[in-house]
Amino acid sequence: MNVFQNYEEVLGLVSSYYEGARVPWVPTREELLDIVMKLANISHDDIFYDLGCGDGRVVIQAIKKGAQKGVCVEINPTLIEKAKENARSEAVLSRIEFINEDFFRAPISDATIIYMYLLTSVNKALKPKLESELKKGTRIVTLDFEIPGWKPVQIVEVALPMRTARLYLYVKGYSDV
Ligand SMILES: C[S@@+](CC[C@H](N)C(=O)[O-])C[C@H]1O[C@@H](n2cnc3c(N)ncnc32)[C@H](O)[C@@H]1O
Repeated sequence: MNVFQNYEEVLGLVSSYYEGARVPWVPTREELLDIVMKLANISHDDIFYDLGCGDGRVVIQAIKKGAQKGVCVEINPTLIEKAKENARSEAVLSRIEFINEDFFRAPISDATIIYMYLLTSVNKALKPKLESELKKGTRIVTLDFEIPGWKPVQIVEVALPMRTARLYLYVKGYSDV
């Protein structure tokens, strides 16, 4: 993957305030990507969304692991350009749709897998949208933050150098009833 040129570039993106962003950009660590894919049980039928996709790394990995299509929803135009650049350098650009939009407004009904690395409060705010738009059977994976009130079907803990990451798997039609 095309990594950022230098630390200043990363700092510039992280610290750049973007109006409407509900969560700052903190990328999912590379060592968690395959664990996310396994937990989501990704297959060639899947349409994989990342709500707040940052530099696109999770959606790019989903395509590399065989998803039919990826959708990268990101409010920050600088990050969405970075995600496109990364997808181009990984030769998966044509398999990903890029939506530079607030995820509260983006249509998500064709998703079979949704990934969210947000905050509990934002997951809570997104709950009515997930409940009304997603099909039964859609898998939702969240990193570190739960969807309050939903029942996870699996929780995976991964020891990282400085902390333990926690991944939650939810299934629409089971977790939300
Ligand atoms: C913690 S980062 C996760 C990035 C990426 N999903 C990953 O795991 O590497 C959250 C991302 O959500 C984006 N974001 C925050 N609020 C948003 C909104 N309302 N609509 C779309 N994207 C948003 C931020 O710009 C940031 O890139």
